[in-house]
Amino acid sequence: MTLPTERDFLGYGLGLRRDYYDLILEQQPDVDWFEIISENYMVKGGKPLYYLDAIRERYPMVMHGVSLSIGGTDPLDYDYLQALHTLIDRVQPRWVSDHLCWTGQGGQNLHDLMPLPYTDEAIDHVVKRVKTVQDYLGRRILLENVSSYVSYRDSQMSEWEFYSAVVEQADCLMLLDVNNIYVSSRNHGFETMAYLDGVPAERVQQIHLAGHTDYGDFIIDTHDHPVVDPVWRLYEEAIKRFGPVSTMIERDDQMPPFEELYTELQQARDIGERVPSLASKQKIVSMA
Ligand SMILES: [Fe+2]
Repeated sequence: MTLPTERDFLGYGLGLRRDYYDLILEQQPDVDWFEIISENYMVKGGKPLYYLDAIRERYPMVMHGVSLSIGGTDPLDYDYLQALHTLIDRVQPRWVSDHLCWTGQGGQNLHDLMPLPYTDEAIDHVVKRVKTVQDYLGRRILLENVSSYVSYRDSQMSEWEFYSAVVEQADCLMLLDVNNIYVSSRNHGFETMAYLDGVPAERVQQIHLAGHTDYGDFIIDTHDHPVVDPVWRLYEEAIKRFGPVSTMIERDDQMPPFEELYTELQQARDIGERVPSLASKQKIVSMA
């Protein structure tokens, strides 16, 4: 699974959300790809699958899940993995991602993406589970850094050291959410540049950008506002370090007219094309 080659660069994408289904089919906007929330399409039939298939015929797609609970201590859910596999067969996505988190315990789903303690024990636990999932799906997965509002007394290392160790040891890839880095840095008081400098550039396969709600003392990752200027600046710093990375804007609430998201996406494209990369010659791990 590990042939060094160029990073799989898809360009600039948006989240596929039902508010825009008809517009996408009718106007076929100039968007390079769409990201779907996998769980929204793990259904037997109906309109979501109709639109999924119709839009997939016209655009590349990637799949993004929220229910894998790769850091949880409940056994891996093979019913979920089977449904994910079935959807992968249908969509033929360029790649499949979920979050570096846990989402429940004892069969109870918290419907939230909870951070892990940054310990060697947690690294071993997550690495084993990622390898199992990758073997089952027959492909590498991407793991995304979550935004967090709590930390653990037992943590032995920084978030980026933990994240890097997991992806290196499990031989998976990174979906780096630049807004989540900013949100967590404000909540916990760490240096965003240390985070960017601390992750293995060759494993960064995708970037998320999003807006949040700023309460002054803390920030919540709400995906209901435009991307803020400090996150755009952090994105520039990321591109300087990593080179062009497939990037998408996440918007999940207070959905604006499509043109507004398209304008934000153009801003990402402008940065990706304008900012010189310090990383163009580095080895990139392939998705195959
Ligand atoms: Fe994200």
